[in-house]
Amino acid sequence: MNIIKLNATESTNAYLKELLAEVMVKDFTVVVAHEQTKGRGQMGTTWEAEPGKNLTFSVLKRYEGFEVAHQFMINVLVSMALYEQLKKLQVPDLSIKWPNDILSGHHKIAGILIENILSGDKIQASVIGIGLNVNQINFNNLPNVSSLKLILGKNLELDELLLSIMKTMEETFALLKSKRTLMRDSLLEQYKKVLFRKDKPSTFKNQDDELFMGFITDVSLEGKLIVTLEDDIKKEFDLKEIKLMY
Ligand code: BTN
Repeated sequence: MNIIKLNATESTNAYLKELLAEVMVKDFTVVVAHEQTKGRGQMGTTWEAEPGKNLTFSVLKRYEGFEVAHQFMINVLVSMALYEQLKKLQVPDLSIKWPNDILSGHHKIAGILIENILSGDKIQASVIGIGLNVNQINFNNLPNVSSLKLILGKNLELDELLLSIMKTMEETFALLKSKRTLMRDSLLEQYKKVLFRKDKPSTFKNQDDELFMGFITDVSLEGKLIVTLEDDIKKEFDLKEIKLMY
């Protein structure tokens, strides 16, 4: 594993993608920044993190013949690796809010932004961006956000935590490579078990900002959220189409 440590950059995902366009970047190269000036979140949002207090990093993962049709497995694998790591730290009441926010109780503590580099129907590589709130204690105007320090009551060493996350992620990717189908099924099963608000009555918002009720009952292999609505009607949604309200 190569680690590139930056003092400040706009976004580690953007930095890694630019680097890829210029030089040969090895599998599992990690770019970690003390500060991101334009951290990116999912769906065009921003990712805010106080400099030096959190983990903001991106990992390059290369593949041989990974089919685009299976791309949701990358989200599942990365979410589960992060989930397992946080479980080892005894973070209470952990869950994954579809598709890949990591929550403790009702509070988001980590977000994941995966950008895939495609060649035809194959994924050549992924830039896996992870933001984990570690030692920050003030999250002004962000009521549903927390950090490991607020939850566990102690500071954690950032470098050590990064290495443990990387180790878990590398091991899980190696297992996926050697036992592809078996691992795919078992990771997806584990993911579904820890899904936030699974089988609970929940409120969602659609693209027209209308609220509706339903139960999260499943996630498809393609990564669509399956919600059971009134009269037992099951409907699949992708990320642009639905927002789960807290
Ligand atoms: C989300 O929950 O919306 C995803 C947040 C992802 C944030 C990380 S921080 C490191 C990497 N670089 C970025 O610009 N974004 C990701």
